[in-house]
Amino acid sequence: MRTQIAAANWKMNLTFQQGEKLLDQILAAKIKMKDHQKTIFAVPFPYLTMARSEVAEEKNYYVAAQNCNHRKSGAFTGEISAEMLHSLNITYCIIGHSERRQYFFETNTMLAEKINLCIENFITPIFCCGEALAIRESGTQNEFVAQQLKESLFHLPAEQIKQIVVAYEPIWAIGTGKTATTEQAQEMHEYLRSIIAGQYNKDIANEVPILYGGSVKANNARELFTCPDVDGGLVGGASLVGQDFVEIMRSLK
Ligand code: PGA
Repeated sequence: MRTQIAAANWKMNLTFQQGEKLLDQILAAKIKMKDHQKTIFAVPFPYLTMARSEVAEEKNYYVAAQNCNHRKSGAFTGEISAEMLHSLNITYCIIGHSERRQYFFETNTMLAEKINLCIENFITPIFCCGEALAIRESGTQNEFVAQQLKESLFHLPAEQIKQIVVAYEPIWAIGTGKTATTEQAQEMHEYLRSIIAGQYNKDIANEVPILYGGSVKANNARELFTCPDVDGGLVGGASLVGQDFVEIMRSLK
């Protein structure tokens, strides 16, 4: 079975102490990940080492950064490079979250550079794509996300695309409590897999986990994850509540 992932995206929330407590609470639930399942905590930069030691003994639990810079190194005060993350043994990084695209003006080309740097540094990118409400209403969401994948991922050779995790996050569903219906999610995920198959091949497309993000909650995760092309979720708000995230982990196929 394709890898199924429950990924928590804390964004800019929680103090160090609150983050530590939340992880303790989640780990206390002792949810065992099966071989094909993973839990990933995308935490703020200063908490990476703490989170990594918290999950060190747990099978298939990982820590992710929420971003990295698109340049290798240099005079970019305040920025964090993929190489720095690698030097902390961090093996996942969210790339191209819609909040980064919107508030920090990250472009598809810049994201392609970040993807390359992640791969060079043995970091699996969790690549986010997804359309805004106006695009969904105009019915051009497929073309829009296809372009995001084309410009940021499709330069990769087949061996490398297999290492990517894709997260489809319709912007109109993020933090709004308005989840995509299972039909909308399945339809888009199937479409994303078909364009990966078109660019590479079907076997490769079948290996790429595609997560859904946007108001995934304890009470809708199971239904969303039942969709054949939805391989888990990238969870914001509900990942900040221990019990809720535990329930979401339990909902993985
Ligand atoms: P949300 O955020 O679950 O709060 O909608 C998801 C995300 O932005 O990754």
